[in-house]
Amino acid sequence: MEFHQKHLLGIEQLSPVEILTVLDTAESMAEISTREVKKVPTLRGKIILNLFFEASTRTRSSFELAAKRLSADIVNFSQTTSAVVKGESLKDTVLTLEAMNPDALVIRHSASGAARYLTTFCRSHVINAGDGSHEHPTQALLDAYTIRQEKKSFKGLKVVITGDILHSRVARSNIFCLQKLGARVVLCGPPTLLPDEFKSFGPDISYDFDRALEDADVVMMLRIQLERMQKNFFPSLREYRNLYCLTPERFQRANKNAIIMHPGPINRGVEISADMADSAKSVILKQVENGVSVRMAVLYLLLGGKDREAAD
Ligand code: CP
Repeated sequence: MEFHQKHLLGIEQLSPVEILTVLDTAESMAEISTREVKKVPTLRGKIILNLFFEASTRTRSSFELAAKRLSADIVNFSQTTSAVVKGESLKDTVLTLEAMNPDALVIRHSASGAARYLTTFCRSHVINAGDGSHEHPTQALLDAYTIRQEKKSFKGLKVVITGDILHSRVARSNIFCLQKLGARVVLCGPPTLLPDEFKSFGPDISYDFDRALEDADVVMMLRIQLERMQKNFFPSLREYRNLYCLTPERFQRANKNAIIMHPGPINRGVEISADMADSAKSVILKQVENGVSVRMAVLYLLLGGKDREAAD
């Protein structure tokens, strides 16, 4: 078992072996969720704070379930019901909560770099649950876990990630993760949402979704993040749909055993048609299910795994 991190801030800092350690650990965690009593005492006595300064359904609830399955105590913090609405800063909020002696802070924030910022003044383990447009490491880890479950190996796989790449922390984390594991990543979207700077990360770039889909093994669709757009990045949703929506006709261009992924939440009828989202090729709900095992693995490796003293 090789995992030498105190925090999980991004995939960029992880070695391929560390990523595989998370996936292997998640595989052994998955069995716990199938038991009648879905709980083991591994993290009994540990306290985890779920600090969500941005909305979440999947990440927040799966971190909570993951902590509970490992018998850790978890406290949920919501920005809207906290003293943040009275003007308390991020630093003062976190210092206040850390004074209650948690062991780990799970943070989602709209500012890129927020998770790293916490490590400059916190003593707890910090886990990035999505920071602005920067990274969403546990999403990429659960995506890789799901791909390995379906495809067995990453070597030579063609993974096409399509949509609002510019604003996507999921895309950034998946580029790092899948390339480190040996897959070929193709990014696709309109040029306004797929700037040249992404070439420096190593993936192929395509603005033509029909061509990009040819021979794809994994088709990962991303949500159009209208809430992060300060200007118009395409003429209309109708035009976007015509060029980049995953439909049954388009999907025929991919390999016959290709799978469909989406981190959620989905805009049905915008980036993916309803029948594609619900089709037998879709592993979208498996991604959600696997998120619990992967987050159990992350909590275990940071808080209870071997070699913790060395990392601390
Ligand atoms: N994929 C993802 O991060 O979903 P949530 O925003 O619901 O957590």
